[in-house]
Amino acid sequence: EKGGYKHFMLKEIFEQPQAITNTVAGRINLESGKANLPNLGFSDEQLRDIDRIFLVACGTSWHAAMVAKYWLEKYAKIPVQVDIASEFRYRHLLIDERVLTICISQSGETADTLAGIRRAKKMGSKILTICNVVGSTMTREADGVIYTHAGPEIGVASTKAFTAQLSALLLFTVFLGQKRKQLSLEKSLQLGRALVGVATVIEEILPSLQKKIASLIDDYYDSRDFLFIGRGLSFPIALEGALKLKEISYIHAEGYASGELKHGPIALIDRDMPILALVPDDDVYQKSISNVEEIKARQGRLILIGSEGDSQLANISDDVIYLPRVDDDVNPILYTIPAQLLSYEIATRRGCDVDQPRNLAKSVTVE
Ligand code: F6R
Repeated sequence: EKGGYKHFMLKEIFEQPQAITNTVAGRINLESGKANLPNLGFSDEQLRDIDRIFLVACGTSWHAAMVAKYWLEKYAKIPVQVDIASEFRYRHLLIDERVLTICISQSGETADTLAGIRRAKKMGSKILTICNVVGSTMTREADGVIYTHAGPEIGVASTKAFTAQLSALLLFTVFLGQKRKQLSLEKSLQLGRALVGVATVIEEILPSLQKKIASLIDDYYDSRDFLFIGRGLSFPIALEGALKLKEISYIHAEGYASGELKHGPIALIDRDMPILALVPDDDVYQKSISNVEEIKARQGRLILIGSEGDSQLANISDDVIYLPRVDDDVNPILYTIPAQLLSYEIATRRGCDVDQPRNLAKSVTVE
């Protein structure tokens, strides 16, 4: 049942190229760039009439929502608010018929997220569910559904469902950008090809990446704390990396936007503090590098994850993981993979049960 892998989590990490490919397949034309979501359940007019989007989710799915905000605002040019479902369901909401509420959920059964969409619906919002489980409660209660085709996810820590959610959300961004006449077919085509391409890249690098990470964790697996930092599209991935590590290895881990470091967390940095920094060569690269230099100056123990061919990184740390260059917009999908593998390798080295971490349930159906 684990297909030769030691744990479901590892199997599911390795299934990600397929999960991404299946999620994208048939939904964007790779010659014309036209996005196609036939069963979405909204008319073109409805999609043009919305004036704001709320993204609502918990945990890992909330991190996917944070990435989607950057994409949607950039390419569909619509204001997006991201909420943790347990906050959304109780706070004062400014919602009306012109709001589209999108819930993101692997299981489709998470109690807070479900309560959130019920409340938004009552206030007149249309509801779109992005979900991995066919026929789950959230898909039944929504006006429209986009399925992530990740296949069943057994490991309690979400892996392939997350990268499939990101893929579905980038597709939806392209679709909405086209419907709202904000996104050219040319750019759509580029994004569609980037999505398909990143699956191939992940497929190619997974085995060697796992080996590289396994060889690097000797100096890190025994840590008490860990920081993960990133900027822009890498910020939510830093949060996701920290969540993965803490839930399966029980190491205290925090994710921060790199630029927030000097507003407090930098006080934590000394020669004992490991920091994983995501530094892809993207539009905020120089800023990310200055943040990393500040950590180096305080003797923080840096693991850098950056772009192949970036010669600057080796001057900053001995522990660098290089990833192939892909389109900036799909970096969050690619940069998730080493963070997952690092958590997996550290947790198994510590003897933790990665598929069934203590105190956690796969589907949180109570508040
Ligand atoms: C983390 C994890 C949880 C879930 C969260 C939401 O690895 O699995 O944080 O992401 O409980 O679950 P869904 O997506 O089913 O609503």
